[in-house]
Amino acid sequence: MSATAGQVACLLGFVYIGFLYVYAQVIKNTTACCDKRKAHDGDVESSSMSKPAPALTFETLVNCLQFKHASVLEAKELLRDMLEFGLLLSWFFVADRTDFFKSGKKDYSRDFLLFFMAMLTLVFAWKSWSVSKTKAPLHRDQTEEWKGWMQVLFLLYHYFEAKELYNAIRIFIAAYVWMTGFGNFSYYYIRQDFTLGRFMHMMWRLNFLVLFCCVILDNSYVLYYICPMHTIFTLFIYGALGIYSSINQTNAGVAIKFTGCLLLVMVVWEIPAVFKAIFGPFEFLLGYVDPRKPDSDPMHEWFFRSGLDRYVWIWGMMCAYMHPRYEKLMTALDDMNQAKAGIIRVAATGVLVALGAYWYQEVYMLPKLEYNAMHPFTSWIPLTIYILLRNMHPWMRFQFIEKYGWLGKITLETYIAQFHIWLSTNSVPNAQPAFLLVIIEDYPYMNFLVVSAIYIFVSYRLFTMTNNMKNALLPLNDNKGLYKNMGLLFGVGTVFYGMAIIANLTTRV
Ligand SMILES: *[C@@H]1O[C@H](CO)[C@@H](O)[C@H](O)[C@H]1NC(C)=O
Repeated sequence: MSATAGQVACLLGFVYIGFLYVYAQVIKNTTACCDKRKAHDGDVESSSMSKPAPALTFETLVNCLQFKHASVLEAKELLRDMLEFGLLLSWFFVADRTDFFKSGKKDYSRDFLLFFMAMLTLVFAWKSWSVSKTKAPLHRDQTEEWKGWMQVLFLLYHYFEAKELYNAIRIFIAAYVWMTGFGNFSYYYIRQDFTLGRFMHMMWRLNFLVLFCCVILDNSYVLYYICPMHTIFTLFIYGALGIYSSINQTNAGVAIKFTGCLLLVMVVWEIPAVFKAIFGPFEFLLGYVDPRKPDSDPMHEWFFRSGLDRYVWIWGMMCAYMHPRYEKLMTALDDMNQAKAGIIRVAATGVLVALGAYWYQEVYMLPKLEYNAMHPFTSWIPLTIYILLRNMHPWMRFQFIEKYGWLGKITLETYIAQFHIWLSTNSVPNAQPAFLLVIIEDYPYMNFLVVSAIYIFVSYRLFTMTNNMKNALLPLNDNKGLYKNMGLLFGVGTVFYGMAIIANLTTRV
């Protein structure tokens, strides 16, 4: 197997950073330490709640690359994080691109899947039953928890190839896209923070890990379709609220924005020629060919995946817009005479359950392909019913299982990592993960346990590293500094890539 230029470039970069880090360790022991950046490598709380140290400056980074003492010491934490990031990705490579481990066949047992899910929920509930401090419906703890349990089912669906869950999984993916609309609208609408720094932080969070996976494992971006899909919808939301942001203040202005989004989606996705014209030039980025179906249209996967949830992010934005009214309604209900409120709750629950049952019969039960045709227009129904039921009663609304929320924070990492260090694509670039990674042979359950434990740990570390590097490299409120740092990253990447191309050419002769 010959290495691609991207792989060689990553290896060169990794070695260079390794030298810098060792150098930092050596001079740390000989110099009085001047590490200005506080250790920021911590748990989720400390990376999201407390303010991270300010980003390193362009000058520090350039000096660090030239082995200048003070700067190397200042960047020591960053170097450490980069090194760990590289090591974690080496694990991806070893697990999925070498013959070091065997790969196993998937085997579905409904009983085991249900047993596992129930067991996990029991343990999580027992260990982390919590009451939210925020009293609003659909508070952060609740959405994180929602992400978490859906993610577990989504992953189990892949691990056991539980084909019968196909339609349910489509709804879970729609729920994530809905949350992108909901969360991003709330953020931009309330904070009105359209700064480049914040925007780049979001892009980094969504795409940094996947970029390196694509390069190191020689895969297409759309193999991990969740990433480009959330990226494009995030861009749409940013654009929708950021362009003429002054009209966001009036109801009519917001209505215009929503209508604009709907029209945009209709024109782009319902008219194939428009879709082709817009995304065709990006085929190098958005094209994907499954090696099992080499003759398929490279743009089909992107069309299909992005099309399934093309509308639901707009519904998410609308829900975010209606949220204050919904909150008022719920508070009014809670403050009402309890007998009266009880009747209203029972009646509303009855209506919602009936609607849900109708949707289940008429839509959910359809076979895969027919279901997919209905999905873009109906996925909002089960989501909305779930949200309304989940928040109907204050008791339900404020309780949540914190451990599911923990998993909910690292869904992006568990999504990407599953392909390579939990499942296996069996050494074939761009292949779907149709196999299982086998570390312990002949003991499928023990193997599941060990592989899963490593997998969750690695995903969590990748989450932390991605955040740490983002905070160290992208200043939030200094556009000039941001441009300079990004330019530097791009420049260094290009130099390594160029060196890799030359190395590949010379070894081939
Ligand atoms: C916007 O959506 C993206 C993709 O789901 C997410 O990573 C990001 O956290 C969201 N931003 C906010 C402020 O909720």
